[in-house]
Amino acid sequence: MTSKPTVWQRLVTCLSSLKSYLKVLCLVVTVFVLLQICSFQITKHSLSLPPSLFTYLKHQPEQASDNKTAYLVEKLRESVTFLPLKDYRFSNKPLEGHTWFMSSLLDNQTKGEAQYQEFPSDSSKGKLLCLKGIDKHDGSWNYYALALPEAIPTNAVLQKGLTFVSYNQYDYYNLWHGLSTMVPFVSWSLRNRCERPQKWVLYHWGELRFEMGHWLSEILRATYNQEPEFTRFIDQDNPVCFEKAVVMRHDQAGMSRERRMEAFDHIRRKARSYCNITSSKPRIGMTLLLRTGARAFRNETVVINVFRRECKRVNGCELNVSYSDNLTFCQQVELMKKTDVLVSPHGAQLTNLFLMDRNSSVMEFFPKGWLKLAGVGQRVFQWGANWSGMRHEGTWHDPVGETCEFLDTDRRCMSVYKNAMIGHNETYFGEWARRVLDKVNNRMKQNITEHNHSYDSLDECRC
Ligand SMILES: *[C@@H]1O[C@H](CO)[C@@H](O)[C@H](O)[C@H]1NC(C)=O
Ligand SMILES: *[C@@H]1O[C@H](CO)[C@@H](O)[C@H](O)[C@H]1NC(C)=O
Ligand SMILES: *[C@@H]1O[C@H](CO)[C@@H](O)[C@H](O)[C@H]1NC(C)=O
Ligand SMILES: *[C@@H]1O[C@H](CO)[C@@H](O)[C@H](O)[C@H]1NC(C)=O
Ligand SMILES: *[C@@H]1O[C@H](CO)[C@@H](O)[C@H](O)[C@H]1NC(C)=O
Ligand SMILES: *[C@@H]1O[C@H](CO)[C@@H](O)[C@H](O)[C@H]1NC(C)=O
Ligand SMILES: *[C@@H]1O[C@H](CO)[C@@H](O)[C@H](O)[C@H]1NC(C)=O
Ligand SMILES: *[C@@H]1O[C@H](CO)[C@@H](O)[C@H](O)[C@H]1NC(C)=O
Ligand SMILES: *[C@@H]1O[C@H](CO)[C@@H](O)[C@H](O)[C@H]1NC(C)=O
Ligand SMILES: *[C@@H]1O[C@H](CO)[C@@H](O)[C@H](O)[C@H]1NC(C)=O
Ligand SMILES: *[C@@H]1O[C@H](CO)[C@@H](O)[C@H](O)[C@H]1NC(C)=O
Repeated sequence: MTSKPTVWQRLVTCLSSLKSYLKVLCLVVTVFVLLQICSFQITKHSLSLPPSLFTYLKHQPEQASDNKTAYLVEKLRESVTFLPLKDYRFSNKPLEGHTWFMSSLLDNQTKGEAQYQEFPSDSSKGKLLCLKGIDKHDGSWNYYALALPEAIPTNAVLQKGLTFVSYNQYDYYNLWHGLSTMVPFVSWSLRNRCERPQKWVLYHWGELRFEMGHWLSEILRATYNQEPEFTRFIDQDNPVCFEKAVVMRHDQAGMSRERRMEAFDHIRRKARSYCNITSSKPRIGMTLLLRTGARAFRNETVVINVFRRECKRVNGCELNVSYSDNLTFCQQVELMKKTDVLVSPHGAQLTNLFLMDRNSSVMEFFPKGWLKLAGVGQRVFQWGANWSGMRHEGTWHDPVGETCEFLDTDRRCMSVYKNAMIGHNETYFGEWARRVLDKVNNRMKQNITEHNHSYDSLDECRC
């Protein structure tokens, strides 16, 4: 019997607490709505101001002044929103689609061309790109935003002229990765009246970089007839907005073979002209480009002798044996101009292959273990040869070498094999060299005149 009042009591308590719940809920909703309005007013994307916001701003009571334009411009300045350059949400697929770099923006994907972004442009609705932050270790502490030219943030600096903003997933010292990053810019320039950048901004994972390897900066100096200048931001808080900016974040992806060859042809010509190369080439030039240390030949004497012997067999063939480490940039350009057959271990020095005349040949050597363990990356110079109009004549994988304590297919072995030395097989090297030289010899016989003049006629640069 005593249980009934208790039930009533509970119900009453429950109802009254429900009331207070509703009150609290109502309060929360009110605060939320207020916050939304506030945040809209202060920070909502300048990227797409909704028309309602304009109406809202127009009817602001503070706007006693009769200059509505000035007022709106001020509001637009304040509304520029900076987002982190590196978006950790996409760290599991950093290079796909919009990538983790400037992830809110999409690329112009014209068929056959490099994917790029241009600011201001139709797709940016006339807005400029602004960058902020000086972090060299974590790209999520550097920022980007879009702003109308009339309403860049109050504390921003306007950078005049064209700026190239480069994203590199690897680094600016490795010849191959560095060059791959630069090729789409060169291609863009070729399509845009040879326009060249006043400044560069270099990012790696959204982290700022202020320099690149010597070889790569020589390539840029030669290509654009000027020293590349890398932007340094003054401080953490002052953004820089660019009068005109072109952003590349996909290396050569999307470029057709024709476009790639056009860009490589252009860089080759510019490099030769920059280095004042006038020397004549032998009828057939064969070059052994050797490495010291990692991936050097274990017995260079034997290897040199095999190729010297095969070269001697062919009329007009000259062998040059050089170490990539002790050649200056222009010596490399000159040597490649004289080379029809490039013989070299897998390594960054092979990036020079595109500096040979078109249709020249490449022979590449690997230490033991790479074939099974190194993945598709070991094919970069096959791609590089194809993209620059050369002929990759195959690879030799050393069947013997360092011993690894695990199975040959165990990934842990790669650290043992990666930088090991390369042996030789005199019989195989000899037969292979003979095959390649015969092909080159036939090609030369067929149209010596054409070959003689192929580059003189192309030497006139478009830019
Ligand atoms: C209003 O402000 C804008 C921007 O500051 C300025 O260009 C314009 O001349 C001003 N107009 C008048 C009538 O003051
Ligand atoms: C992409 O670039 C082409 C050529 O410059 C241009 O015609 C086109 O409008 C651009 N598309 C976008 C979405 O910006
Ligand atoms: C090439 O020649 C020009 C003009 O003679 C000279 O100014 C320049 O320094 C030379 N370049 C190189 C890399 O030697
Ligand atoms: C290279 O091989 C030759 C011939 O087999 C041999 O005489 C020479 O000692 C070897 N050199 C080295 C550094 O192993
Ligand atoms: C080139 O480098 C090799 C190996 O590092 C060295 O033995 C040789 O003396 C160098 N040659 C020249 C001309 O500097
Ligand atoms: C090989 O080429 C380099 C660079 O062009 C040159 O300095 C060297 O004299 C050449 N060596 C031979 C043996 O031709
Ligand atoms: C390269 O070879 C291709 C195919 O054989 C030929 O059409 C082209 O004319 C050659 N190019 C040069 C520069 O020799
Ligand atoms: C070279 O590239 C073209 C186009 O990407 C491709 O069709 C061709 O098979 C490639 N050739 C070689 C030898 O890789
Ligand atoms: C060297 O190459 C020849 C020719 O391809 C091959 O028959 C021979 O088995 C190879 N020798 C070794 C030790 O791999
Ligand atoms: C030159 O050689 C290339 C490839 O070998 C061939 O396509 C081209 O027709 C030749 N040109 C002449 C004039 O013989
Ligand atoms: C090729 O060029 C060399 C040097 O410029 C010249 O002596 C030779 O006569 C030329 N050959 C042909 C077939 O034009």
